[in-house]
Amino acid sequence: MLENKTVLVTGGTGSFGKKFIKKALEENVKKVIVFSRDELKQYEMKQEFKDERIRFFIGDVRDKERLNRAFDGVDIVIHAAAMKHVDACEYNPFEAIKTNIHGAQNIIEAAIDRGVEKVIALSTDKACSPVNLYGATKLASDKLFVAANSYVGDKKTRFAVVRYGNVVGSRGSVVPFFKNIKHTGVIPITDERMTRFWITLDQGVQFVLDNLERMQGGEIFIPKIPSMKVTDLAKAIAPECEIEIVGIRPGEKLHEAMIMEDDARHTVEFDDYYVIQPEFTWWKKEKHLEGKTLADGFAYTSDSNTEWLTIEQLKELVEEM
Ligand SMILES: NC(=O)c1ccc[n+]([C@@H]2O[C@H](COP(=O)([O-])OP(=O)(O)OC[C@H]3O[C@@H](n4cnc5c(N)ncnc54)[C@H](OP(=O)(O)O)[C@@H]3O)[C@@H](O)[C@H]2O)c1
Repeated sequence: MLENKTVLVTGGTGSFGKKFIKKALEENVKKVIVFSRDELKQYEMKQEFKDERIRFFIGDVRDKERLNRAFDGVDIVIHAAAMKHVDACEYNPFEAIKTNIHGAQNIIEAAIDRGVEKVIALSTDKACSPVNLYGATKLASDKLFVAANSYVGDKKTRFAVVRYGNVVGSRGSVVPFFKNIKHTGVIPITDERMTRFWITLDQGVQFVLDNLERMQGGEIFIPKIPSMKVTDLAKAIAPECEIEIVGIRPGEKLHEAMIMEDDARHTVEFDDYYVIQPEFTWWKKEKHLEGKTLADGFAYTSDSNTEWLTIEQLKELVEEM
């Protein structure tokens, strides 16, 4: 899929971006452009990735002019840049909207104007029935990317979304947090009933690559991934520690969801993923004909999942990281 293509990754210096770019370079990509704001992260990445096919662009997704310049000659855009911390988005709502929603609009407009072929935007389980602003901005972004296919006119640009849950070990995630705090002998957990989905960075990257191939334009792709109890994760990382229940935080859910009942009506299921199909008149299923429709009332949530990780499995996965 990436062979001989020019690929631009917004947020290319982040956890996802670096992993994706590593993989893209193995796949004989023609050129990869890293698009992000902070020059130090780019400088450090330059030291790590010594490959003449990489270009580094300083830029902000809030700046459409810069995106227009950066997208010149680009075939594929992976949009991973975001404000992604629930607390930061709650306390800086205007900033979250500028990056996650206005940024999405800028990506869409620049991609259409510059004749990019395919755009995949990364979404999160928090965008499904959101209770915090992070999730709400990502839901708005998902809606923009799906709707963008409506107004491409005769241009070849197509947009799709990939939505998944917590990425194990990504910057600021719960695994490094538990590891860093275990020396205190106490692991704080907000609620002992809490469950989360679990996906590794490698799986996330592979899922995006697979869907670049599969996408028709307008889909939200969701992988089938296991769930875990957050208390089990604490026991896997720090079995010797005491668990302290500190109470649910503002904007936090007890269980995450990826598909709710109302979306399930227009979702199709495959062996290892789901596709939420757009509800636009232009949607004519060309590619996902084999997908099964879902039972009435189906929801894909972290507590109703059929696949669960045990403490032992979590221990192994954390050690592998
Ligand atoms: N990590 C997870 O658990 C998880 C789960 C589901 C979905 N996702 C989604 O996956 C995507 C990637 O997440 P990640 O874990 O890789 O995040 P990350 O490690 O925090 O990286 C974010 C990247 O975005 C860049 N960035 C932030 N604001 C920007 C802006 N205004 N303009 C340009 N670049 C900007 C950052 O670099 P600079 O700061 O230098 O600009 C960095 O390269 C996000 O869209 C996130 O919502 C993540």
